[in-house]
Amino acid sequence: KKKVVVGMSGGVDSSVAAVLLNRAIGKNLTCIFVDHGMLRKNEFRNVLHDYECLGLNVIGVDASKKFFSELEGVTDPERKRKIIGKGFIDVFDEEAHKIKDVKWLAQGTIYPDCIESLSITGTVIKSHHNVGGLPEKMNLKLCEPLRLLFKDEVRRVGRELGMPEHLIGRHPFPGPGLAVRILGDITREKVEILQNADDIFIQGLRDWNLYDKVWQAGVILLPVQSVGVMGDERTYERAVALRAVTSTDAMTADWAHLPYEFLAKVSNDIINKVKGVNRVCYDISSKPPATIEWE
Ligand code: XMP
Repeated sequence: KKKVVVGMSGGVDSSVAAVLLNRAIGKNLTCIFVDHGMLRKNEFRNVLHDYECLGLNVIGVDASKKFFSELEGVTDPERKRKIIGKGFIDVFDEEAHKIKDVKWLAQGTIYPDCIESLSITGTVIKSHHNVGGLPEKMNLKLCEPLRLLFKDEVRRVGRELGMPEHLIGRHPFPGPGLAVRILGDITREKVEILQNADDIFIQGLRDWNLYDKVWQAGVILLPVQSVGVMGDERTYERAVALRAVTSTDAMTADWAHLPYEFLAKVSNDIINKVKGVNRVCYDISSKPPATIEWE
């Protein structure tokens, strides 16, 4: 039997692609989920559990050490993407080689991924790492069942397949993860700060029934420190920006008009609970000209 491997990101697209393939070929499909260390708080563990509940044959690989070491000191966004993209392929390739008779590689690439990574005018806006083909050395044929679909269509396929709503409704999350939400160089300490702030924001959106009203949301760790005051002490700590947008396909987006009371609560919670952050801003830029991610 010819076997298929699929790279999982934790997002809607790869999950739907995997469930679809699992329905078709069952145990001839192996899912590989690589943790590059820049996922959301507890995401690797939670998503791995979700995959198992879906009956997927999944292998989780914690490769965070490799990624943190390769990204050390790197500040350029496209270089971060290249390093993560290449590292991802290396880890994936190694795992795939452990499985016998693999002939196909499946991916959850969707239509906007292709467009945004394509260069029609000669300029690549952002190079999404799941687009652009695989290294020759992998010697696998490519299977992209969702390549012609937009996100809302992918979600419809997922529902049709009976996948649980909390997986289908997940916000998009970039392949390079929090690496492109930390402006400047990446350290474990910064990732942890960002994970904690992000967790408060996302959990808050859920608690206030706002999660499903926005297309995507997250926190950006800014490369600035600013003066604050805590008790009698002067502080000089980090600033974060909250980003939440409405959109139908990520090609254009508007900043989400979230209630002030909600923003006030999230801001307070982040500043009180996340050590090292003393200022929270809200990003009110639309795409275009701003992009959804800051990098
Ligand atoms: P931008 O920031 O270009 O993002 O407005 C549009 C959508 O794409 C996601 N995004 C990425 N996804 N790899 C990905 O898989 C990437 O490098 C990447 N950069 C941005 C972004 O989160 C939004 O949903």
